[in-house]
Amino acid sequence: MTESMKGLHRSHRCTEFGVGNIGEYVTVMGWVQKSRNKGGIIFVDLRDRSGILQLIFEEADCGAEHFAKAERLRSEFVIAVCGKVEARSGAVNKNLATGEIEIRVEELRILSEAQTPPFPIEADSKTKEEMRLRYRFLDLRRPDIQSKLMLRSRVATKVRAVLAEEGFLEIETPILIKSTPEGARDYLVPSRVHQGKFYALPQSPQLFKQLLMCSGYDRYFQIAKCFRDEDLRADRQPEFTQIDMEMSFVDVDDVIGVNERLLQKVFQDAIGLEISLPLPRMTWQEAMDRYGSDKPDTRFGMELKDVSEVVKDCGFSVFTGALEHGGSVRGINAEGQGQMPRKKIDALVEFAKGYGAKGLAYVAIQADGSYKSSFVKFMTEEQMKALVEVMGGKPGDLLLFAADRNKIVWDVLGNLRLEIARNAGMIPEGQFHFLWVTEFPLLEWSEDQKRFVAMHHPFTMPMEEDLDKLDSDPGAVRAKAYDIVLNGTELGGGSVRIFQADIQEKMFEVLGFTKEQAQERFGFLLEAFQYGVPPHAGLAYGFDRMMMLMTGADSIREVIAFPKVKDASDLMTNAPDVVDQVQLEELGIAITKEEQ
Ligand code: AMO
Ligand code: AMP
Repeated sequence: MTESMKGLHRSHRCTEFGVGNIGEYVTVMGWVQKSRNKGGIIFVDLRDRSGILQLIFEEADCGAEHFAKAERLRSEFVIAVCGKVEARSGAVNKNLATGEIEIRVEELRILSEAQTPPFPIEADSKTKEEMRLRYRFLDLRRPDIQSKLMLRSRVATKVRAVLAEEGFLEIETPILIKSTPEGARDYLVPSRVHQGKFYALPQSPQLFKQLLMCSGYDRYFQIAKCFRDEDLRADRQPEFTQIDMEMSFVDVDDVIGVNERLLQKVFQDAIGLEISLPLPRMTWQEAMDRYGSDKPDTRFGMELKDVSEVVKDCGFSVFTGALEHGGSVRGINAEGQGQMPRKKIDALVEFAKGYGAKGLAYVAIQADGSYKSSFVKFMTEEQMKALVEVMGGKPGDLLLFAADRNKIVWDVLGNLRLEIARNAGMIPEGQFHFLWVTEFPLLEWSEDQKRFVAMHHPFTMPMEEDLDKLDSDPGAVRAKAYDIVLNGTELGGGSVRIFQADIQEKMFEVLGFTKEQAQERFGFLLEAFQYGVPPHAGLAYGFDRMMMLMTGADSIREVIAFPKVKDASDLMTNAPDVVDQVQLEELGIAITKEEQ
């Protein structure tokens, strides 16, 4: 039998009072964490989102009827109790906010009973993630997830407050929009009214926020849902949330300025982190040269060194061949790893191959200064000495080299650097290294499409200094684009936008769009630009990634209430799922190929 809460009003959450309230009569409600019957006296841990409170039941206080009810309590029952706050009779529990008090219950109501949950509701669950996501409604009761989602709410509130102070307006943009594929794949939504036609879900509010600038709302922001049908990873979901903004009459430094103040205030408010400004900046070229990555983790060293000059005349054809084909030879020094067993080195070679390397050349410098190496036999003594010197190699170090096209060499060594650092525990915990990466290339050559594609998006402004290269050497044009990187994760990114019709036209031309194709896809934006467009720029953060990094979570699934798994399905609701034939017919859709 369950009861109603009629006539009762919750006076506090479980941990919203303490020794100062001793003697007060309170009403609290929540879930039974556990119940211990000591014969004549029953202790119950009551849980709500604020934490845990100890209840004590004795027949002398609550009477026989309520005591009998207390004897029935099991984990996850939902109850309401009224009683007096008193100092703990037993041992004080320093781990609990309310560890020095307890409630001596006078009235108990069982509001709802519960089956035994499939896994315990406690922090640091050892339960498999699949199981947790299948029963996400229970998993979300666990205090570690609750604290993450409560922090997420706090951060959203702070972001709104700071951006309001900075003069931003919060404006919503539509979710059912026109498909303008460029970047990831769109999620499509069929139209019932217009059979055969589809909406797309937005990959970001990009075009709409630019239109808002044309309309004079000179500072816009939105905490926006975005949808991208791409391969999922620990830091990627098919639907995710951006803190998205756009500003008029600004250039790179203005956007960076506002965002540094935002990051400083938000991280200070959320986790008490003091960020000193300005944040460091690095050009894309420097990031690639030093870290082999456009999102370098600067919490540790092991930087890449270009040794092309040193090895250009050596007898090792792997090195000289790469150089002859316009590539480079670069290395990293895994300091102190010179004793790495052959098996582990082989594993690193395999790891490198996963990033496109044809192989990995190594030198292990022995304690006596001699070399164990896959290519020493092709080198003169002087060449070897020069190589080791450029790499800063000492006895006990392991030097690893990749020779190939720059893109592959960077990717291989950039990832190898992270892998080695992770394995060797070289990455300091609890540090927050922010970094702006600037001056990204405007374009990227797509091998699949045999054309240039926009590295950020087609509305990104080229650097004025490089405008003349748009025709002659498009690949060398740098963009007014910037990313904010935190501990090796791309937290956010943005750019100054093109607002001049002639540059935008040129850009479409370089991207291989005909005038008609550009008009067909982005006509509404180009049209808006004909009626007075302010210079504008913006940026968007991945809100989920921000929360993942703030809370130290391993995956963004830990900071999203109802996330999806790797194959983009929801284990709790079973989405995506088949739909009724009637629904399909209404939409004019026939399924030609079903999932096995
Ligand atoms: P971009 O595509 O770089 O820029 O996205 C901005 C930020 O969003 C986050 N992000 C994701 N987070 C979780 N799952 C995903 N699948 C995912 N994809 C992206 C990243 C990324 O830095 N409109 C532009 C911004 C602008 O130019 O103003 C944009 O969307 O943290
Ligand atoms: P091979 O001549 O292919 O037997 O390679 C000789 C050594 O060079 C082996 O240790 C390979 O792993 C390494 N190696 C091969 N290709 C490359 C490359 N592109 N960059 C660096 N090392 C390589």
